[in-house]
Amino acid sequence: MPLSLLSVTPEVYPLVKTGGLADVAGALPAALAAEDVAVTTFVPGYPAVLGAIGDAAVVHAYDALMGGPATLRRATVAGLDLLVLDAPHLFARDGNPYLGPDGRDWPDNPLRFGAFARAAADVASGLLPDLLPDVVQLHDWQAALTAVYLHYDPPTRRPGVVMTIHNLAFQGIFPAYLLGALGLPAEAFALDALEYYGSIGFLKGGLIFADRITTVSPTYATEITTPEGGMGLGGLLAGRGQVLSGILNGIDTDVWDPAADPRIAARYSAADLGGRAADKSTLQRAFALPEAPEAFVIGSVGRMTEQKGMDLLLALLPELGEVQIVLLGSGDAGMEAAFVAAAAASPDRVACRIGYDEALSHQIQAGSDAFLMPSRFEPCGLTQMYALRYGAVPIVARVGGLADTVIDASPYALAQGVATGFQFAPGSVPAMRAAIRRAAELYRDDEAAWAQLQQNGMATDCSWNSAAKQYAALFRSIRA
Ligand code: ADP
Ligand code: GLC
Repeated sequence: MPLSLLSVTPEVYPLVKTGGLADVAGALPAALAAEDVAVTTFVPGYPAVLGAIGDAAVVHAYDALMGGPATLRRATVAGLDLLVLDAPHLFARDGNPYLGPDGRDWPDNPLRFGAFARAAADVASGLLPDLLPDVVQLHDWQAALTAVYLHYDPPTRRPGVVMTIHNLAFQGIFPAYLLGALGLPAEAFALDALEYYGSIGFLKGGLIFADRITTVSPTYATEITTPEGGMGLGGLLAGRGQVLSGILNGIDTDVWDPAADPRIAARYSAADLGGRAADKSTLQRAFALPEAPEAFVIGSVGRMTEQKGMDLLLALLPELGEVQIVLLGSGDAGMEAAFVAAAAASPDRVACRIGYDEALSHQIQAGSDAFLMPSRFEPCGLTQMYALRYGAVPIVARVGGLADTVIDASPYALAQGVATGFQFAPGSVPAMRAAIRRAAELYRDDEAAWAQLQQNGMATDCSWNSAAKQYAALFRSIRA
């Protein structure tokens, strides 16, 4: 019998995405199918999701769910078996899933994701006779209260519960007076439950009441048990160390395949990197940089935030005289403005596009010589794996999943022929400067060694196969 998994997630590619969580939730079901795990993906009915499911069948109706009527609907879209919470009073809003047009969190986020978790707990408990999950996987704080509802309303049939942390920086912390509105008992306001420095923490509740906790890389699984990496939950996570593990994310190797990518100018493979030259000059042209084949082009794609360490790159830009920098991203308004200003001041070596652009992100991977990720912390990171696959040699901070996916080009690793990129101490401008210098010198002085780095990276297995096996084994160990 296949194991039935209910994946409870606030985003899923290709329907709704703000970051890597959507990629993971979108790719895992197909990988798990190969391990005999049948996944139903439970998502909120944002307009983009409702548009995609059309007139999908209603399988349950709530008269009132946190302030309004709601239904559960099922559909299959883009190969995903979806269960959708259609609650117009909570989710029929345009734009970002979490933020209003003013860029601030929707004020009713606790009720929106409380309702989502309440419905997930109902389904987990057997609400739908055709969908009896053996295990529920809760992705991040938005899904975490599911474990709490299952604890305070113990069902006769309780599935195994896995809490998966994609980013500990987002914990869902809200005022304690909301407990009643969320339908939770006063006793939940306790140190060994939801209470968090006088407020309530959704993620904290999930971490306490889940059977297993996973996060998205082995190194991050260790970092989050420390006072520095634990973001206020380090002690709790260290205490639950027996049930905590790190399973490294994969990437979608069909969407990200330089030998078959329709979005890039010229296709290429590890055996024949020739096409990269055309991708590089196309990229330089697209960003109005001098079309110099010998220039060392460093690309970067991602959220412009403190987490991603883009301010460290800003500090270093004036010193990076000989390299060309190509940036795509959005986020912190001050950082965006600073990069735009830097590009205007040095148009022959710094180029930047503010915004979100899937096609351009592929072109940057295909046309850059190296790919920079100076993150202060990084639970896993997907873009450095795209870079490996595209032969854009990653230069990364030695944290979290970056430490687990890139092999530093130390003299020893180079001699052994196993290096795939460059690592440096996180949060340090001098360390980043040294790593970029090491990379630029190797690129300039040793063509064969550089090609070897590219080929090693392209040969790295970044697929979901290994992660799917590990998840399947974990789910089987706790199935209902
Ligand atoms: P995080 O989830 O912390 O943002 P990840 O590396 O796990 O970081 O995932 C980020 C995902 O979002 C990747 O698929 C990346 O390609 C994509 N992405 C981020 N910013 C942009 C952008 N400006 N344009 C296109 N894709 C982007
Ligand atoms: C989070 C993390 C990122 C990770 C992604 C998917 O957004 O910031 O490092 O790759 O989740 O797990």
